[in-house]
Amino acid sequence: MTEKKIIGVVGTGTMGTGIAQIAAMNGHKVFLFDVNENALEKSKESLSKIFKRLVEKKKITQNDAVNFINRIQFVVSFEELSECKFIIEAVVEDIKVKKGIFRELEKITSEETILATNTSSLSIAAISSACENNERVLGVHFFNPAPLLPLVEIIPGLATSDIVVNSARGLLESWNKEIVIAKDTPGFIVNRVARSFYGEALRIYEEGIADVPTIDNAMKEIGGFKMGPFELMDLIGNDVNYKVTETVFEQFFFDPRFKPSITQKRLVEAGYLGRKSGRGFYDYSQEFVVTEPNTDTKLEQEIFNRILVMLINEAADAVFMNIATKDDVDKAMTKGVNYPKGLLKWTDELGVENVVNIIQSLYDYYNEDRYRVNPLLKKMAKESRKFF
Ligand SMILES: NC(=O)c1ccc[n+]([C@@H]2O[C@H](COP(=O)([O-])OP(=O)(O)OC[C@H]3O[C@@H](n4cnc5c(N)ncnc54)[C@H](O)[C@@H]3O)[C@@H](O)[C@H]2O)c1
Repeated sequence: MTEKKIIGVVGTGTMGTGIAQIAAMNGHKVFLFDVNENALEKSKESLSKIFKRLVEKKKITQNDAVNFINRIQFVVSFEELSECKFIIEAVVEDIKVKKGIFRELEKITSEETILATNTSSLSIAAISSACENNERVLGVHFFNPAPLLPLVEIIPGLATSDIVVNSARGLLESWNKEIVIAKDTPGFIVNRVARSFYGEALRIYEEGIADVPTIDNAMKEIGGFKMGPFELMDLIGNDVNYKVTETVFEQFFFDPRFKPSITQKRLVEAGYLGRKSGRGFYDYSQEFVVTEPNTDTKLEQEIFNRILVMLINEAADAVFMNIATKDDVDKAMTKGVNYPKGLLKWTDELGVENVVNIIQSLYDYYNEDRYRVNPLLKKMAKESRKFF
């Protein structure tokens, strides 16, 4: 049996720690590095706790737990990463910091070492420009919590070689990850398509069509989503969620489809960040009672239809613009953010003509570019008519 690759992880925050856990549980020796020794210490404690909990839940044996933790080395010197054959960077989302790391990684590693970034919103082209040989640089975008969510988006940069992409895919598949390949474009697949889940919910709320609990309830009850958009924004953190929307909006040269919401901006400014600050769209103090949702079926159906068709429009655009295949777009949304169904599969079930009609009626009503029907959906609707 060939020896498993030594994995390096740079940055031991939420994501780095999760990725190290996966690699160790899959038999790899892992080197975990952070500039901040407290962060390293915290990561060590958190991994010990996680393995302990897995033993308590009888998911792993005590012996496994010892083996896993022994495979992880917490290193304080960057040079110790030189032995690694696959390095995943998961430091702060800052282009200067990331480029600095890739520049240094190139110097200390052998040429065949693959250098990957877990960035959510920066371009792989920009990060990999720090390396002289950028054929071995690519994006591998995990979802939080990395050990639980199966999806990884692989994002080749302009120069990434096919060998590197295939090797990364092989490794991540051996960790039981579900892989999709995405073009190096803002938000890749998930963070691009999912913008409508939040954006359209916020728009419905801002127009006063329904309140927060009603919109959340509609998406859960009618749509089968595990969480409503406002619950999810509060969980992710309004600061983080707002920032992603703002970045995607800017990177798409201010396309109105991705316009951020003033309501959410105000929440961030007020420090209403969500669960982590005790207040967001909801109040998490114990005495607070959530307003009952309006369960009028017609209203709920209207809310659900509107958010769903906007999601579908975005999913279709990702296919239309060759960001990913139809299957990969559906896989990304079900495996990365737990959507109950793939959006293109949902389109087939609803009938593409119905979907197009709803989006078109929004466009007719608002006359805003935000509601323009994607050409791929129009084409699909035209083709579906041929069969009747
Ligand atoms: N949190 C998420 O939901 C999520 C999901 C997918 C991708 N990401 C991406 O993953 C990356 C990490 O996110 P996170 O949430 O784990 O961040 P985090 O803030 O929890 O951790 C970042 C870590 O990077 C360390 N760091 C900073 N500068 C460093 C340097 N020069 N060298 C080594 N370590 C350094 C910090 O000390 C910190 O421990 C970001 O690029 C983020 O966009 C985050």
